[in-house]
Amino acid sequence: MSSPIAFTWPLPGDEIARLAEVRAVRVREGGELLDEAGLAEFVGNAEAVVTLLADPMTDRVMAACPSLRVIANCAVGYDNIDLEAARRRGIWVTNTPDVLTEATADLAWALILAVTRRVVEGDAMVRQGGFHGWRPDLLLGTGLQGKTLGIVGYGRIGRAVARRAAGFGMEVAYSDSEERPEPGVSARRLSLEQLLAASHVLSIHCPLTPETHHILDVRNLRLLPDGAFVVNTARGPVIDEEALVAALESGRLAGVGLDVYEAEPDVHPGLLGRTNVVLLPHVGSATLETRSAMAGLAIENAVAVLDGREPPTPVVRGD
Ligand code: DGY
Repeated sequence: MSSPIAFTWPLPGDEIARLAEVRAVRVREGGELLDEAGLAEFVGNAEAVVTLLADPMTDRVMAACPSLRVIANCAVGYDNIDLEAARRRGIWVTNTPDVLTEATADLAWALILAVTRRVVEGDAMVRQGGFHGWRPDLLLGTGLQGKTLGIVGYGRIGRAVARRAAGFGMEVAYSDSEERPEPGVSARRLSLEQLLAASHVLSIHCPLTPETHHILDVRNLRLLPDGAFVVNTARGPVIDEEALVAALESGRLAGVGLDVYEAEPDVHPGLLGRTNVVLLPHVGSATLETRSAMAGLAIENAVAVLDGREPPTPVVRGD
């Protein structure tokens, strides 16, 4: 019997159950997220582990799991994994790109619309009995037609967000290390500084790397036009949250929509009491269809490595 594939969480959909019909699996029941010690103990002598983006797959964890051949992250981002350590130890690392692109782009738009049209404030007003009839000045928001949507990071998700912009009559500009033409989208590539200065709404879609950590810091936030909106569905630490709160407090930013946080799951207290901030609990890819597809792809990756085949979506090549 081959060593079981370990799952640090019971993933949505029926992919794990289908795998269990043909292979041994070991699935955690859920509960608290694992820290390094908990992960090391749970993975133990497994050759394959399917991980969450919140699982810290550090060098220490890998050292404690000497049989490990593949870390199949069930996420497109992999900043939770020490890639250098995996490379040194000959462990494959894989991720789940493509399958979550449309769901995450939809959620970025949900946040853009929620902050610019004050959707959450309106909902709260109605529930709290504050709606006393139509008024011409009730909850005035900001229109998107003719405004510029700035996209930081023009990969798969950034381009999917851009494709939706035409439907709202927005101009699109982006900053990225590469020119990336997207069929059907007319978008200008700008330097980050130019992009910030031009963006009425800024949406972040770059991965978290040492280069993108605090890419929106005090200085860069000041480059946005007065009254701009910022939306982040990528990773929290790309924004200096302290600087973001200061920009909101000064009134320079009109609103912020966040799905991710600098010290996730903790949220900066300066964000919590503000009505022009919409906060979601990292649900960019949270549809049943998408999460099932992510689980399916992570499983395909793990099984391929165990069977001596090339996994479909490798990040680090193992031995
Ligand atoms: C990812 O896959 O990296 C997303 O953040 C998950 O929703």
